Amino acid sequence: MSQSSKTSVTRASSDSIRLRKGKLPIVCITAYSAPMAKLFDDYADIILVGDSLGMVIYGLPSTLQVSVEMMINHGAAVVRGSKKAFIVVDLPFGSYQSSPKDAFITAQKVISETGCNAVKIEGGRTMAKTVEFLVNRGIPVLGHIGMLPQSYNQIGGYRVRGKTKEAETEIIQDANILEESGAFGVVIESVIENIAEKITNDISIPTIGIGASVKCDGQIIVAEDILGMFSDFQPKFVKRYANLSPLISNAVKNYADDVRNRRFPGKEHCYYKK
Ligand code: KIV
Repeated sequence: MSQSSKTSVTRASSDSIRLRKGKLPIVCITAYSAPMAKLFDDYADIILVGDSLGMVIYGLPSTLQVSVEMMINHGAAVVRGSKKAFIVVDLPFGSYQSSPKDAFITAQKVISETGCNAVKIEGGRTMAKTVEFLVNRGIPVLGHIGMLPQSYNQIGGYRVRGKTKEAETEIIQDANILEESGAFGVVIESVIENIAEKITNDISIPTIGIGASVKCDGQIIVAEDILGMFSDFQPKFVKRYANLSPLISNAVKNYADDVRNRRFPGKEHCYYKK
């Protein structure tokens, strides 16, 4: 087959994602591996390689222990496993907060070593200069406001944000400043519905909610949460679409029983001379 007759699929761009605002809701889901990315690619507009992989894949206590190398390994796998979705990789804790220049160095490494399309960083007002610095140098940035898992030690747990008037004002300011700084979208995590709704109506870039109600322009969720494969904790905002843990556990139990009782491998799984 000649090069020109091959069907090539083009990925979405940050501009095309931004233009989705006010149109069809944007579907985002996390993936950390090539096979999962392949399964999600037909349905997701954005696949996020989230630093939630620290807890979900590595069994770490929080996202604070996640390294750039982990993000790069999983980011590259997700890019290889997908063709259509726009791939965003989280910059992990400590890899971008010190200065816009450090953020650029990390983002450049992540993009060039994974082939991903954009990065996500946590923080609003505090990250405005950094977002602007990256965007002005050709790096699309997805913002993240509301409950910020990387600030776990400051906020003292994974709490809903926006309960006081002061917190509401801060979250709204965060969204506005990320829009001004050039972010192509903003994740709003664990925020009271009417604040998410107000932000969605006020800013020109898409809002992607997680625990921030149906009023957002799109939704994002951790895949293992909706598939019933991660049970360390289940936030209120998670809806279970499947319960795979018992299925997996039962399959492995059956395999173990077969091996112990010499029922596996069978003749059909073995090689013989003709
Ligand atoms: O790390 C992650 O998976 C995330 C989403 C939950 C938004 O940041």
